[in-house]
Amino acid sequence: MTIFSNLAMSLDGKIAPADRSFFPLGTKEDRRRMLALRNTCDALIMGAETLRSYQKACNAPDKMITNVIISSKMDRVDPTWPFFSSPKIRRILAVQNPDKERFPTCEWLEYQGPQALLTALASQGLKNILIEGGGALMWDFAPFIDTFHVTITPRILGGTKAPTLVDGLGFSKDTSLNLQLQDIIQNEDELYLTYKRLRSI
Ligand SMILES: NC(=O)c1ccc[n+]([C@@H]2O[C@H](COP(=O)([O-])OP(=O)(O)OC[C@H]3O[C@@H](n4cnc5c(N)ncnc54)[C@H](OP(=O)(O)O)[C@@H]3O)[C@@H](O)[C@H]2O)c1
Repeated sequence: MTIFSNLAMSLDGKIAPADRSFFPLGTKEDRRRMLALRNTCDALIMGAETLRSYQKACNAPDKMITNVIISSKMDRVDPTWPFFSSPKIRRILAVQNPDKERFPTCEWLEYQGPQALLTALASQGLKNILIEGGGALMWDFAPFIDTFHVTITPRILGGTKAPTLVDGLGFSKDTSLNLQLQDIIQNEDELYLTYKRLRSI
């Protein structure tokens, strides 16, 4: 199983403004690279807040991929959003308290944490998993990610309430995840970084 993430952030580490409105931070080249990465996954996972801001399917150009949404109970999610009718994706809602009748175009899994979800997806043959954020979801999945793709964009967003690459409770100096830089590409004022997770043996 391979688990990788891809997010764009401002120089100060924010992935969206504090109001969580949809704001594509990267250039067309960043989007091209995002679509190329999606072509290598079987499923991508995102948090419900990311769905609330984007409302559309996250599809790949050359294949049908599965979009997995994680939520406690899918509040403030409208079944008329384009996400729920796109023919380009398969949809799985990983939810603690499902209200199945509201979302008839979706399949369901009971969300019992990242490890159980990844195991359930693998049992369906979904083994290349792309984590697309946001920061709350990244906190849950960061310990499982092998490769972090991060685009640094030439902006400052600021805001103590703006989501960052990884939010949640935070690691301590003893538990922080250690990474190794594998690749760095510059495109104009944007940097594409690839970090591999270093795991102790
Ligand atoms: N720049 C980028 O590359 C990028 C990428 C992705 C997203 N974004 C932006 O980031 C923002 C969203 O990020 P975010 O950190 O606020 O939210 P998020 O991670 O997208 O979603 C958080 C939500 O996921 C659900 N969730 C997370 N962990 C859960 C758990 N253990 N159990 C049950 N549900 C859980 C909850 O949904 P419920 O509230 O339904 O319970 C929670 O409110 C948006 O503005 C989006 O546009 C930017």
